[in-house]
Amino acid sequence: MSTKKLWGGRFQQQASKWVDEFGASISFDQQMADEDIEGSLAHVKMLGHTKILDAADVKKIVAGLEALQQELHEGKLHFTVENEDIHMNLEALLTEKIGPVAGKLHTARSRNDQVATDFHLYLKNRLPKIVNEITTLQKTLVAMAEKNVETVMPGYTHLQHAQPISYGHYLMAYYQMLKRDKERFTFNMTHTDIMPLGAAALAGTTFPIDREYTAKELGFGQVYANSLDAVSDRDFALEFLSNSAILMLHLSRFCEEISMWVSHEFKYLELSDAYTTGSSIMPQKKNPDMAELIRGKSGRVYGHLMALLSTMKSLPLAYNKDLQEDKEGVFDTVKTLLPSLKVFNGMLKTAKPNIERMKQATENDFSNATELADYLAAKGVPFREAHGIVGQLVLKGLQTHQNLQDMSLEQLKEASPKIEADVYHDLKSEVAVQRRHSLGGTGFDQVKLQIKNAKQELGED
Ligand code: ARG
Repeated sequence: MSTKKLWGGRFQQQASKWVDEFGASISFDQQMADEDIEGSLAHVKMLGHTKILDAADVKKIVAGLEALQQELHEGKLHFTVENEDIHMNLEALLTEKIGPVAGKLHTARSRNDQVATDFHLYLKNRLPKIVNEITTLQKTLVAMAEKNVETVMPGYTHLQHAQPISYGHYLMAYYQMLKRDKERFTFNMTHTDIMPLGAAALAGTTFPIDREYTAKELGFGQVYANSLDAVSDRDFALEFLSNSAILMLHLSRFCEEISMWVSHEFKYLELSDAYTTGSSIMPQKKNPDMAELIRGKSGRVYGHLMALLSTMKSLPLAYNKDLQEDKEGVFDTVKTLLPSLKVFNGMLKTAKPNIERMKQATENDFSNATELADYLAAKGVPFREAHGIVGQLVLKGLQTHQNLQDMSLEQLKEASPKIEADVYHDLKSEVAVQRRHSLGGTGFDQVKLQIKNAKQELGED
């Protein structure tokens, strides 16, 4: 049997220990202890400001909460399952410290608006950290892209050599994805910056509270306009999980490519020893474990998004205990995202491109076939016809083991008399890349423009 509850007045029987354990959230919601104290401090100051509590009581409660805050930071607070969650644990600890006056703190408040407020504050405190880590990674990408504007590599579609591209352009593609990720997290802040406190259990309160005052104390930009909405929705958390899932998806695509690029088959990249591991049996191995692990961790983040969507689906208004399931996935996502971004950044920063090998890969293939078709089209051959002519040449090359640039002018002229000696210039992969001047293309000038704009966006110009 467990001890008497803070809410135990109307109960004649106590729950078994294992029911307590099942219902408790203290094992995880203690991660919001700081936010809970912060929220209580603002709430009690508001109760003083509005004269709902007298100044002497407020002073005692504030002093008690500040002492708890101090002890929390010193790792001295001890929480128990009997006290169920962080809110009641802290109230019990406050009561131990200052006596029954602690009971006045919960005037005009419910755990329903309290937990929602803590959760908003928790995320509000962490979103800027995530945005910062994304920015750090973007800066790494821009710096690497700047060094590799003219590094030529194969561009792929269907994982087949398609057309040569600039390695800098490839890196900047991820910069652009991260830019939108950052915008999503920044927008996420708008919906996280709304304060539920003052909604009380579900219907507001008869006490003359001042929600604007509390919001200002806590640094919230807005207050929820509807008390039912305030205590029962978690769309700010769903947005966070959705944004996180998309970010992890972007990282996992990049990780997949890194894992391929470092393989024997590609050898486009060499990762630093510091971000790889060996094998316990195969002495030659150098495995891209960090890339694989980040790719793998995307799974748990998607899982957290699906879990919260499923928990929220069909929930009647307003608060339901189901909502206690909202937190662990979000906490775990924060704990996954921050180190994933950090490790990814370090891994990328120390990775060395094998410029020679990338270039070679663009010369040992038919990825300049479009160049030849474009060459003919520029000389008035309808593109469809040009496509057919080059297709025939590719077929021939496959049979004779020749790439287009290895064929003699005679051979080429057989396919089309319009082909002249200047074609060999166009068939060079670096020329193919450099000439793609269209806006957003891989042409060197376009990549430089992207980098210039990115630096401006990052405040680095
Ligand atoms: N531990 C609860 C949660 O995480 C706090 C709110 C409980 N409110 C209630 N009426 N049972 O959601």
